[in-house]
Amino acid sequence: MEPSLATSSVDRRSVVSLFSRLRTSSGQSNPLPFYKELRAMGNIMPAPWGGHLVTSYKLCDQVLRNRAWQVPGNEWRTRQKDAARWSAPASLQMGSTMPMLNPPHHTRMRRSVGSMFDRKSLDAMRNSIDRITERLLDQVREELHDGEPDFVELVCEELPVITIGEWLGLPAADYPLLRSLTHDQVFTQELFPSPSQLALSDAATAQLREYFTELIRERRRTPGNDKVSVWLRTWDELEPDQDAADAAVHSLALFVVLAALETTSHLLATAVWLLLEHPRQLDWVRTHPEHMPGAIEETLRYDPPIHMISRIAAEDTTLAGVPIERGEMVQLMVGAAHHDPDQHTDPDLFDIRRKAAHLSFGGGVHYCLGAPLARLEATSLLTTLLKRMPGLRLADGPSYAPRVAFRRLKSFRVTAS
Ligand code: HEM
Repeated sequence: MEPSLATSSVDRRSVVSLFSRLRTSSGQSNPLPFYKELRAMGNIMPAPWGGHLVTSYKLCDQVLRNRAWQVPGNEWRTRQKDAARWSAPASLQMGSTMPMLNPPHHTRMRRSVGSMFDRKSLDAMRNSIDRITERLLDQVREELHDGEPDFVELVCEELPVITIGEWLGLPAADYPLLRSLTHDQVFTQELFPSPSQLALSDAATAQLREYFTELIRERRRTPGNDKVSVWLRTWDELEPDQDAADAAVHSLALFVVLAALETTSHLLATAVWLLLEHPRQLDWVRTHPEHMPGAIEETLRYDPPIHMISRIAAEDTTLAGVPIERGEMVQLMVGAAHHDPDQHTDPDLFDIRRKAAHLSFGGGVHYCLGAPLARLEATSLLTTLLKRMPGLRLADGPSYAPRVAFRRLKSFRVTAS
């Protein structure tokens, strides 16, 4: 079949130039014009570095939900020519975690953890998350006496690591280390990691591997009722080989930490920043708390923590008439797809009442297991903030990390009126 017109007419140099501008801190401070440019090149187009880029909401959704598309697991990674990129320790470690497993391994791993955050477990966590939020906001209030504190550093980076650390039963003294290792590890999941970034990612991977190996050893010695001990008991029943059971739990605990930190921090920071930037909507949600879920969902649509999700064609296929060979990668530009005018009216408008669908937590068999927890943390933060700090204003920022796939709002400063 002939490639679609939009695909064949794309100028590769324009795509490269667009991405090199998009990946800078200043490009990240407003990716929307880049996404508009990219969507104008087509719903699907060849990526100059191989594979295809997908920008339309419908196509991204279709790929995520269709089992003919697989995730790039270790079988795929070890077949790639660019071994420095795909067979590096950080890449192979990622390749063995749940979101990078394909059925039947994925099915087994996913079943072993159940729904992870069902209503009962969320109810049990709610009070403690509210208490942590209150404590973090107290610190912001304290620091507001003397200046303009960084809200992201004091609150948005802290709440996810304390929440997940307590859930896994990790010592609080380890949180700063885990936070910094996850910031380094993420480079292996980026679109264009440099050799020095890959080296940072490999070094972080080695430390994380050691950390979680020791954690599992310790939970084997003194099992408790914490999550890791529960997973070990589950896997001992599923798996006769104890080393294999330990490896499964290792990859689970490690991935949960990787999955929960940067993503949730970005959601919290973006939700607060967008509301402070839109004071009328902030006042509206203060007087109409029933719109709080809408504010969180619109934040997830407007600026999701993950802007790109990758899939591999399991067999030769076509997507919107474009032939894709078996093993070829498609990069789903969900950040761009969330602003697709064919899907959302006036997509660049932040409107907490719009009730729009989004792909922030993925879709299909890999749909995020932590979504209820991320929503709970966001609800706790926004509710407490609106109640306790009505006069909070933006003082400076925001600043963003230079990335493409994993957004990171690094900081913004606040003041009180
Ligand atoms: C706002 C915060 C979060 C966002 C935006 C997010 C996003 C995502 C996305 C897009 C996927 C699917 C990846 C793919 O299809 O390739 C995913 C998978 C996953 N997430 Fe999240 N996540 C968030 C928070 C969390 C938290 C807090 C946890 C756990 C505590 C978590 C655990 C997982 C797990 C275990 C998977 C793998 C599911 C599977 O492969 O079956 N996530 N997440």
